[in-house]
Amino acid sequence: MNEQIQIPFKKDGKIISLINMKGGVGKTTLSVGIADFLANYRGGSNKKILLIDVDPQFNATQALLDNYCDEDYFESILPKERTINKLFKPQVQFSEESKIPTTEEMIVELTDNLHIVCGDLNLVLANKSSDYSYIKKLKRFIKDNNLREIYDLIIIDCPPTLTIYTDSALIASDYYLIPNRIDRYSIIGISSLQKAIKNLTSEEDIDLKCLGLIYTILDDELTAKQIDMKTNFEEKSEVQEVYIFTANTSYVKDIQVGKQGPIPTRYKKSRNDLQDICIELLDRIESKELDNV
Ligand SMILES: Nc1ncnc2c1ncn2[C@@H]1O[C@H](COP(=O)(O)OP(=O)(O)OP(=O)(O)O)[C@@H](O)[C@H]1O
Ligand SMILES: [Mg+2]
Repeated sequence: MNEQIQIPFKKDGKIISLINMKGGVGKTTLSVGIADFLANYRGGSNKKILLIDVDPQFNATQALLDNYCDEDYFESILPKERTINKLFKPQVQFSEESKIPTTEEMIVELTDNLHIVCGDLNLVLANKSSDYSYIKKLKRFIKDNNLREIYDLIIIDCPPTLTIYTDSALIASDYYLIPNRIDRYSIIGISSLQKAIKNLTSEEDIDLKCLGLIYTILDDELTAKQIDMKTNFEEKSEVQEVYIFTANTSYVKDIQVGKQGPIPTRYKKSRNDLQDICIELLDRIESKELDNV
């Protein structure tokens, strides 16, 4: 009798950091939206997604746990340190071997296809040590646990500051994606981000590509002033080297005050935006991968 040999299908997941040095531009909302949409809203073609929250504000964690998880963050997740802090907490003893946690120790399953490494408010304290020896730990956690073979995409929500957490996220990533809100100071966030990325890629010898910039929280109709700001922004050399997504996120009041919380997939208008964003995002990744062949 012919016995068929089953070769397990291994994925080749890509890692994307959502980042902008400017605060409040919609990084977290977009990270949560992309992760949730790809994992839970594509019917038969859902993707397996891991969201990693490296922001000490841990807003992505709060939003997703509130919606998808029975466990209480402060009762069962934080005390057992099933959070990103496991990677960044200082070693207690000098002789202690630097251990990389297992997936069971760090990952919380929200739905079949959506998993999370929770953020941790203690990161605010840990960062005071700003110990640079930690910056490769996230990359090692992903590698040692073969996470690329398990997930189609790993999405990292970054804080709006240059810290060891943003460096760790970028070092672990294949790509970065820039959510950007049109305002007078947008350019400052992009210039400082591009400078930081140039320094990091030359110092650490990493291959990190920009997937593009997504305009966020757009009003249905831009005012003449906003159009002017957008034109000025796009004329800047730092922006000219970046691909600008056709898809964007519209202003949806319910994301701030709606009964269903800050998860954009819960609202039809945002869900439509996310569908367009995800199609463009997956196309961009595919074309970037083909560039390398
Ligand atoms: N499409 C949207 N429509 C309306 N409000 C939005 C939308 N996206 C985000 N917001 C709101 O804008 C604010 C900032 O969003 P968010 O927290 O995602 O930004 P952020 O860039 O992650 O901020 P931070 O820099 O503090 O991490 C929040 O109050 C959020 O609810
Ligand atoms: Mg945020």
